[in-house]
Amino acid sequence: MLLDALTKGMRKTIIAGNWKMNKTPSEATSLIEEIKPLVADANCEVIICVPYVDLGIAIEATRDTNIKVGAQNCHWAESGAFTGEISTGMLKELGVEYVVIGHSERRQYFGETDETVNKRVKAALAAGLKPIVCVGELLWERECNITNEVIARQIKLDLWDVTPEEMANVVIAYEPVWAIGTGKTATAEQAEEVCEFIRACLKGLYGLEIAASVTIQYGGSMNDKNAAELLAKTNVDGGLIGGASLVAEKFAAIVDATKPAEY
Ligand code: 13P
Repeated sequence: MLLDALTKGMRKTIIAGNWKMNKTPSEATSLIEEIKPLVADANCEVIICVPYVDLGIAIEATRDTNIKVGAQNCHWAESGAFTGEISTGMLKELGVEYVVIGHSERRQYFGETDETVNKRVKAALAAGLKPIVCVGELLWERECNITNEVIARQIKLDLWDVTPEEMANVVIAYEPVWAIGTGKTATAEQAEEVCEFIRACLKGLYGLEIAASVTIQYGGSMNDKNAAELLAKTNVDGGLIGGASLVAEKFAAIVDATKPAEY
């Protein structure tokens, strides 16, 4: 859509690494030291979403740099008998700024539902954290031609009761489940088609202005080779990167792919 193209430059471009369950604290320190100089002149927001045990050292190691730190989940309660969970207050006190919520691996392996995703999103926003809300269809849902229905439902339920004001702090990540960790990237056209549809859903829920301002990332086998083509698409405002974010040079190359071509 023409309007989406006109407003692309106004949206924040965000490249976020989702380290998943990788890197011990000492390994995290080394990787961050490698990444730091390579992304120092980035012209986009750079985030690393690290395992809970690496958060403290990541915050320290990125102090006075342009790298922001994110967690990979948070609970909705302030405190209590929730063994194994981490509260938004705990993350906030550490200095965490972003939090990935509703990743398909949480939905697939840990019983996360749109209802719990929504609770976590609202708790994160209430605590002043910026949620990166993940949505995406399974392969068989795509094959059954219900991608749009699945995405519309996730967007509506995951953002239920999120206010228009709070949307300024929400990032959406479109991650087709069949493209995650499979080496099978969505084509730039497929990514654009769904990201455009997500923006249309946001328009229906929040109106044109807010829809035009929300950063929508693509995630799923994004790497240093395919990033530029994906990021050039009108409604793809960044990337949520798994495997390639664990290799400093590859992650930095994706960050560089957000820079406008030089003539
Ligand atoms: P990969 O880049 O390893 O496919 O993972 C994508 C992802 O799930 C990011 O959250």
